[in-house]
Amino acid sequence: MGEDVATYPKWQYNEMQQVGTDYTDISEVVVYDTRMQKLRNIKEEIETIINCLDVTKDHSILEFGTGTGDFAIGAAKHCKKVIAADVSSVMLDFAKKKAEMQGVENIEYHHAGFLTYEHRGEPLDSIVSQLALHHLPDFWKMIALSRAFEMLKDGGKFYLRDTVYSFDVEDHSTFFDNWVDRIGEVAGEDMAKDSIVAIREEYSTFDWIMEELLKRAGFYIDEVDYSDGFMAVYVCTKRL
Ligand SMILES: C[S@@+](CC[C@H](N)C(=O)[O-])C[C@H]1O[C@@H](n2cnc3c(N)ncnc32)[C@H](O)[C@@H]1O
Repeated sequence: MGEDVATYPKWQYNEMQQVGTDYTDISEVVVYDTRMQKLRNIKEEIETIINCLDVTKDHSILEFGTGTGDFAIGAAKHCKKVIAADVSSVMLDFAKKKAEMQGVENIEYHHAGFLTYEHRGEPLDSIVSQLALHHLPDFWKMIALSRAFEMLKDGGKFYLRDTVYSFDVEDHSTFFDNWVDRIGEVAGEDMAKDSIVAIREEYSTFDWIMEELLKRAGFYIDEVDYSDGFMAVYVCTKRL
């Protein structure tokens, strides 16, 4: 587990073990990247995050769950260094090739995750994570957020976007049915099937739990955005 830490306690959650979609399977990685290019306005997402974080040319940014690398590559063009961490080496190889093709060289890749990345060097200006934290159960989310907090400098920012449930729990059955139907219409049957796996096997949590986890980790939540009942964005600051 992890790139440069030899031993972990036996009770440590194994974040290298894939939950839900298997992102160590190259065909899944290619499908994921193709879908995301089609469904998301990635350029706009990167600009929004860079603006939220007040990124400057001398900043160092860590991304947890970098996936196929678009944010890391986009951000690297605005700052000194991006540290891209992911538990899937297949994802990291894919991201590396993409960066090479675009001539982007200031990204450091780490085969490690929220629980196993060991930060060395100066405290970070920002940490970003999109659509990755829900791979951890809630207890381990808390550990992950506390670790992230420790890696940031005072005044450093944390941008978290993830599937977080803000719909009325009594309506969950109708909500999930409608959600899966809508994904099927917008993105096709295969993605609808993946969303069923995500609901059943991954660890998306409640809005009130996520807010409390962030606060208990030490963060000030500057902005919160809940859209569609299942997606959330938190812009947070470490203030000592
Ligand atoms: C749905 S993809 C999101 C990728 C990218 N952030 C994006 O927005 O498209 C989830 C990514 O998180 C990674 N991941 C899963 N568990 C992780 C963990 N504990 N720490 C870091 N990354 C993790 C997966 O390998 C995968 O690359």
